[in-house]
Amino acid sequence: MTDFRLVYFSENRIQAGMLNTEIETLLEASRRNNALVVISGALMFNDGYFAQVLEGSQAAIESTFERIQRDHRHGNVHMLEFAPASTRSFQTWSMAFIGHPDRMSAEVSTIAARSGFDPRNLDGDHLFNRLKDLLHERE
Ligand SMILES: Cc1cc2nc3c(=O)[nH]c(=O)nc-3n(C[C@H](O)[C@H](O)[C@H](O)COP(=O)(O)O)c2cc1C
Repeated sequence: MTDFRLVYFSENRIQAGMLNTEIETLLEASRRNNALVVISGALMFNDGYFAQVLEGSQAAIESTFERIQRDHRHGNVHMLEFAPASTRSFQTWSMAFIGHPDRMSAEVSTIAARSGFDPRNLDGDHLFNRLKDLLHERE
């Protein structure tokens, strides 16, 4: 069965003081759940926005994304792309994270700052490619 790829962005609703704990918690749940249904992907947090790519079977992505959309830790969820994808780009990550300066190495923080990342200005393909570039730059 062909894999699918879903790309969305959303607005953060987590209070500043709670960001580290909440993101840690949601990453733990994401990695556990995604591994079970063979979803891979990447999550980025920057400037009050989340952007995420999910890769996997159509059914696994649909049920996971329904749960994600109901999550009150973010809002205004905008789906940019949901389509068949011949290859996976984040195969080795149940959920890679590119994040807030507080939560990452100086190196990654520099990359995120340099990227001028603002998901509102990107379409699905651009957002997907940006996340891919950022992660591969980090490796
Ligand atoms: C920005 C964001 C991204 C998320 N990504 C995922 C994800 O990739 N996979 C997942 O299972 N849950 C994800 N979640 C968490 C879900 O909304 C939900 O809290 C979680 O799946 C519940 O898992 P549990 O019942 O095992 O605790 C995300 C939440 C947010 C706010």
